[in-house]
Amino acid sequence: MTLLEKEKKVVTITYGCQMSERDAETLTEITRQEGYTSSNDLENADLVIVNTCCVRESAENRILGKIGELKKLKERNPGLKIAISGCMVQQPGALERLQKRAPHVDIWTGTHNLHDFSELLHRSETEKRIAEIWQESHQTMESTPLAEKGKLQANVNIMYGCDNFCSYCIVPHVRGRERSRQPQDIIREIKALAANGCKEVTLLGQNVNSYGKEFDPTFDFADLLQEVDQISELLRVRFITSHPKDLSDKLIMTIARGDKLCEHFHLPLQSGSNSILECMNRQYTREYYLSRVRKIRELLPQATLTTDIIVGFPGESEEDFEQTLEMINSVHYSQAFTFMYSKRSGTSAADMPDQIPLDIKKRRLQRLMSVQNEESYLLRQSMIGKRYEILVEGPSKTNPNRLTGRTRGNILVVFNGLPEVIGSLVTLKIVEAGSWTLVGELEN
Ligand code: 5AD
Ligand code: SF4
Repeated sequence: MTLLEKEKKVVTITYGCQMSERDAETLTEITRQEGYTSSNDLENADLVIVNTCCVRESAENRILGKIGELKKLKERNPGLKIAISGCMVQQPGALERLQKRAPHVDIWTGTHNLHDFSELLHRSETEKRIAEIWQESHQTMESTPLAEKGKLQANVNIMYGCDNFCSYCIVPHVRGRERSRQPQDIIREIKALAANGCKEVTLLGQNVNSYGKEFDPTFDFADLLQEVDQISELLRVRFITSHPKDLSDKLIMTIARGDKLCEHFHLPLQSGSNSILECMNRQYTREYYLSRVRKIRELLPQATLTTDIIVGFPGESEEDFEQTLEMINSVHYSQAFTFMYSKRSGTSAADMPDQIPLDIKKRRLQRLMSVQNEESYLLRQSMIGKRYEILVEGPSKTNPNRLTGRTRGNILVVFNGLPEVIGSLVTLKIVEAGSWTLVGELEN
């Protein structure tokens, strides 16, 4: 770069799950290879990437608002390039509607052709309103770059897509059928991350428990975890998401025997009512779910559980909803991500009768959140006086004078300490607890 050449800045804004975040990292890394530097300064950006999510209407509305705001930014800065990527663009039939609504966007791209982004950037020098959306992935994911170097924590995709077709969910329609990455590719990626200073990896999949189901000879998720556990520079290994129907005893035992394998399961319940679970096509009953929880508690008494729950699924009665609350009180989750059902066109639940009015959904959501808040409070209170291993992540967002980190069970703790401990494991004694906060003291 000569002195006269201006440094190019990219701002990446991402919405949605960890898989979407991981895609945004890939896109940012591609722009870095094209000479861009990451920035948060929208006013002085040369390129803005909005990586989208379409899992609920509320997310889509927020994203459309953001894309609208960028129009004004482009009026002030006509040289600005705007790229919109991700699930919302990949949704069948969405592109035309989006392009009409946002003619100021320069590049539209989907979830299956991330690796292609540098080419799209080059094309945008001469072409206007580029749209490149593939319907399938063509097995090209291995050519996408690694996440940013030198990070303490990293997300690693172990598989793509989903075969479960839960009746409310758009994900299989936009991310396609399940594809597992080869173990050697995953291990190579994690070793490279660890060699660059990464201490904690989170293995990502819509349903990690069905990893490798297409492999012959068999090699399943528990086998993969055992291998990742051997990577010496790593301190911790996490994984999300576990579909309850595929959670095997072998997996629970592998975690019990593992060294770095963290005892935390994100086990989406979605509903506590068998009839709603059936309409959701979840393929388990509340009894089966509880039997899996019992197995976890038996083999891993220190494990924590988190969950996702939807209220107001079509046909959900007050009794159905009460059964969900009962499950919250039986399982004792450390955290629950709670959502109002959102109708997604193209999913089978969108055409189901007896859609629930918004006011009822809102009321149920409030009630669910207050029941979970009480559970979270009791669980954190029960941690007072006990000692936990913490991986120190950095200054606390809410109080930068304090440090923050997580227990193996993924519970956030703040404490007073010197920055030298960032990136290492420390033991903290818990001294204070609220529903969402834990305060610890250094032991050593
Ligand atoms: N409406 C509400 N919540 C949904 N989720 C997925 N699809 C929908 C929908 N249509 C929730 C599920 C899933 C989480 C990632 O998002 O709880 O586990
Ligand atoms: Fe959606 Fe169900 Fe697949 Fe999760 S398992 S991504 S909720 S279809």
